[in-house]
Amino acid sequence: MDKLYARQHGGSDAGLPIQYDFSTNSNALGPCPHVLELIQASDCAHYPDPEYHALRHQLAQWHGVDAQRILIAGSASEFIFRFSLACFFEQQSRGIAAHVHLPKHGYGDYAAAAQACGLIPTSLPQQAHLIWACEPSSPLGQTHEHLVQLIETQQQLPTQAIVLDCAYQPLRLSDKPSLNTEQSDQVWQLYSPNKALGLTGIRGAYAIAPNEKTSSTASHNARLKMRLQQLAASWPVGAHAHTMLNAWTQPETQAWLAQSLLSLADWKAQQIQACEHLGWRVLNSNANFFCVFPQDPNSSKKISTYIKNSTSSNYSIQLAQYLRLHGIKVRTTDSFGLAHHFRLGVRAPEAQAALLHAVQLFAVI
Ligand SMILES: Cc1ncc(COP(=O)(O)O)c(C=O)c1O
Repeated sequence: MDKLYARQHGGSDAGLPIQYDFSTNSNALGPCPHVLELIQASDCAHYPDPEYHALRHQLAQWHGVDAQRILIAGSASEFIFRFSLACFFEQQSRGIAAHVHLPKHGYGDYAAAAQACGLIPTSLPQQAHLIWACEPSSPLGQTHEHLVQLIETQQQLPTQAIVLDCAYQPLRLSDKPSLNTEQSDQVWQLYSPNKALGLTGIRGAYAIAPNEKTSSTASHNARLKMRLQQLAASWPVGAHAHTMLNAWTQPETQAWLAQSLLSLADWKAQQIQACEHLGWRVLNSNANFFCVFPQDPNSSKKISTYIKNSTSSNYSIQLAQYLRLHGIKVRTTDSFGLAHHFRLGVRAPEAQAALLHAVQLFAVI
């Protein structure tokens, strides 16, 4: 059996309390007070409707799609694993080994799920039965390369599915999505509102299946949808996530989100300035997070002098370890296939000042 794929995530961990968390992409203005209040008043005494009829109708109406296309998921991470398994079984039933195409830099669960479900990675999109795309991407917050072209090519590949992870679409601060409505109708779209609402402790998400009326791979997608339904545990989301997803489309929630994006845009500009002040190279991003290359101001200094007993001789990893010891968490991007960088979620000015101060102290150790 293959070695277990080591998953890494931002956010809470087993270490000391985190005072300033730049490692998650959760909306720094959250939690959304209106949704939090509703969650706290959730009906926990009863099972939700196992088919989530009303919720699916509400989400469908909001997205302007047929309710049959909405699938409720325990979280985006849960859906990634379930989709990978559905893809494996679908190809196995045809006597074919399923292949998956992963983004160059991307959320680690795509690769972890591929490994767990026996999907074979391929660098050739035209060979893949499953393509993972993400926009704005993580960790870079950029456009997914050649997405429109992938959809055009898919029209000649009747057993290929493309899943577009839209986890950060509601947190987009600049540019616009690559796909228009007709193109979006060809792919599976995966939404996880907990990040936009600053409620990542609530686990619940949903997907929109491709439009069977216009999809070039309609019968394949219909079979995948059936498998996804078969593979779903009963009640994939409980009362709290049900409330969050229900509140997601409410005007009050969306008004709060729109307002928070204005503050995030201001904070992002300030945070970029602070990073540049440190001499760090900032990579372009359209989201509420961005990657930096933290330059070593003392590159002539022997790195192992920074932190005693550090597990790494890499400057960015040593700096991340130092910051973590001082209550500040940043996300190193090595697990995304991007060495020597940090991904920084946009945080409030107070957190930015703490980061700046801690990095300046590190430089003079
Ligand atoms: C791109 C992307 N997709 C999905 C997820 C997981 O979302 P969820 O909290 O719904 O499992 C993450 C979490 O970090 C992510 O970065």
